[in-house]
Amino acid sequence: LKLTVEPGDSIYFKDGRLFMLDQTLLPARTVVLELETPAQTEQAIRRLAVRGAPAIGIAGAYGALLGAMNAEPDVDSIMLATREAIALLAASRPTARNLFWALEVMEAVLRSGIEAPDALIKALRDAADRIALEVIETDKALADAGQEVIPDGCSVLTHCNSGALAALRYGTAVGVFVEAHRRGKHIHVFVDETRPLLQGSRLTAWDLGRVGIPYTLIPDNTAAMVMKQGKVDLVMTGADRIAANGDSANKIGTYGVAVLARAHGIPFYIAAPGSTVDLQCPAEPDIVIEERYPDEVRTCGGTMTAPSDAPVYNPAFDVTPAGYIAGIVTDRGILRPPYSESLKVFS
Ligand code: MRU
Repeated sequence: LKLTVEPGDSIYFKDGRLFMLDQTLLPARTVVLELETPAQTEQAIRRLAVRGAPAIGIAGAYGALLGAMNAEPDVDSIMLATREAIALLAASRPTARNLFWALEVMEAVLRSGIEAPDALIKALRDAADRIALEVIETDKALADAGQEVIPDGCSVLTHCNSGALAALRYGTAVGVFVEAHRRGKHIHVFVDETRPLLQGSRLTAWDLGRVGIPYTLIPDNTAAMVMKQGKVDLVMTGADRIAANGDSANKIGTYGVAVLARAHGIPFYIAAPGSTVDLQCPAEPDIVIEERYPDEVRTCGGTMTAPSDAPVYNPAFDVTPAGYIAGIVTDRGILRPPYSESLKVFS
C-alpha cells in the first residue's frame, strides 16, 4: 500500500489542480479532467464525472482546497473563499454522507486558529490528503474484514458501482470481491446493469474485467430469475449513507434487490467505511434522497427511449431497511444486528 495519492489514481491533486477520471465517459473513453476551481469541482460532482460516496468526499475536500488556493493570500480571504467553496460543494448532491464528512473536516481546519496564510493552506492541503488516504486505508480494512463472508467458490450479486472508481484504489463491496480474488478464492459476480445511468455495466464490469474476476452482466430485472435459479449465494453492495439504526441508502434499485434476496433466503450485506455512517441521522425518514434529471430516464446512452415529454420520477437512491441487512462490512469489522448497538463503534 503506497500512502501517497498520485497520477494514475482515479483522482489526485497536483500543482494546484484537481485531476479526475471522467466517469461519465467510461468505458468508451478515458479522459482525465483538470479542475482549477470549486465551481468546476461542484459541476463535476453534480454531473457524476466523479461519483460514488467516498470519491465524492475526496473531490469535495480538494474542491474546498481549490477555494483556499485561489483566494487572496491573507487569512480572512482564505477563510471566506474556503467557506464559500464548502457551501457550494455541500449543495451538489445531498445523499452521500461522505461528502459532508469530508467538508466538516475541512471546516474544522478553518476553526483551528491558524493565523498565517501559508500555514492555513498547508493545513487544508494536509487535511484533504488525509481524507484521501483514510478512504484507501478504511477500504483496505473492510476488504479484509469482508473475507469472512466470502467463501471460496461463491457466487455474489452486486448493484451499482462500489469499486476503485467510487472510492480510491480499493472500493467497498467490489473491493471485498477484488481482495477475495487476490487471495486466490474463486468467485463469480452477477453485475446488475443499474439503470438509468448504468454504473453496473459501464463501471463495475470494467472494474472486474480489469482484474480478471469472472462476472456476468445482467439487466436489473434479471436479478429475481438468477436468484430463483439458485445461482446467487449472497448479495453485497456499497452504501451512500447509513443511519444510526442501520437503514442504508444506496443506488436506486438496491432496496428491490434486498427484498428479492430475502424472498429467496439469500443474505444481503452492505460494505461501507465509517465515513458513510451518520449517527446523527436516526433512520430512513431522515435520509435526503436526491432526485435527478428526467432525461436520464427518457434516454439510454444518449438516445431518446421515451417521449421527450414523458413524466418521470427519478430518485437516485433508495433506502434498504436495517431488517433486510444480514451484516454491514466496515473497517471496524462486520457489524451485525441490532445495528443501533453495533454501529456505536463509530461514535
Ligand atoms: O449516483 P452514484 O453513482 O454516485 O451512486 C453511487 C452508489 O450508489 C454506490 O453504490 C455507493 O456510493 C457506494 S460506493 C463505494
